[in-house]
Amino acid sequence: MPNSLSSQYIEKSVWKPGIFDGKVAFVTGGAGTICRVQTEALVLLGANAVILGRSQEKTQKAAAEIASLRSGAKVLGLGGIDVRDFKQLESAVATTLQEFGRIDITIAGAAGNFLAPFSSLSARAFKTVVDIDLLGSFNTAKATAPALRKSRGVLLFVSATLQYKGLPLQVHASAAKAGVDSLTKSLAIELGPTGIRVCGIAPGPIAGTEGMERLLPADMIEKAKRMVPVGHWGTTVDIADTTVFLAGPSAKFITGTVFVVDGGQWHIGGPEIARYPDLVAQNSKI
Ligand code: COA
Repeated sequence: MPNSLSSQYIEKSVWKPGIFDGKVAFVTGGAGTICRVQTEALVLLGANAVILGRSQEKTQKAAAEIASLRSGAKVLGLGGIDVRDFKQLESAVATTLQEFGRIDITIAGAAGNFLAPFSSLSARAFKTVVDIDLLGSFNTAKATAPALRKSRGVLLFVSATLQYKGLPLQVHASAAKAGVDSLTKSLAIELGPTGIRVCGIAPGPIAGTEGMERLLPADMIEKAKRMVPVGHWGTTVDIADTTVFLAGPSAKFITGTVFVVDGGQWHIGGPEIARYPDLVAQNSKI
């Protein structure tokens, strides 16, 4: 997978070049679709980064590609890391501190999911997803908190929007992501006095992600696009922009907040939902 961003991101976005100069980002799932672009944006704006994943090859390749975005950027790819194993994260943090001396921004983004009805979801399957998404986020926070405390850094969780409603076939992921949102609130309260800010990003339908391509049935794609009030799916750049906003000085008074980035989709409800958005268009006098 090539980089999604280029130097044009600095030229065309609203962000100031160099706002993350000297900062170090630690990103689980950083070779995946969403977290990779979050990392690309931080690196383009001056940060060095460590990305972590289960696959050695995929993680190291992504790290080299992200590093090529900015002259002088350093991006370390640490493969063979499973966020369910706290000791592996501890050792990744030790390697990061050896290489870079600090961590300023942690992104707990690693996740796993599949569609499964409750009737065929085994206890082990449920636990597997909760362990990757929720326990993995906790482990990432726990392992990086001492370094974030030193840097007065930022901890960002990545959740989703499926947990805000009842979604079929997603009992496991919904429970896990609700837990991740809860971590954002609880840890903001506990870590605030130590100088760490904690925020969450809840991406809605984002084009080109594994979640949308693998988990959404093909015959639902057009309907799903119409069910977003702004009229289209989001992009990974939308999530990257939110990340830059939350990780940077722009959000210095924000903690404990989960930012839903979904074009307003999760708010749609009520008995007329099946006729949305046609109902609005038919009755609109604007
Ligand atoms: N439906 C029902 N159960 C499933 C399943 C599916 N599609 N996929 C896995 N499980 C169950 C397994 O059957 C097993 O339970 P069991 O022992 O009772 O049978 C349990 O989950 C663990 O499966 P396993 O494959 O050993 O887990 P893993 O840790 O190797 O991988 C995932 C778990 C979630 C990472 C794996 O399903 C995966 O690779 N998913 C695709 C990648 C992904 O999720 N990316 C993120 C997209 S948002």
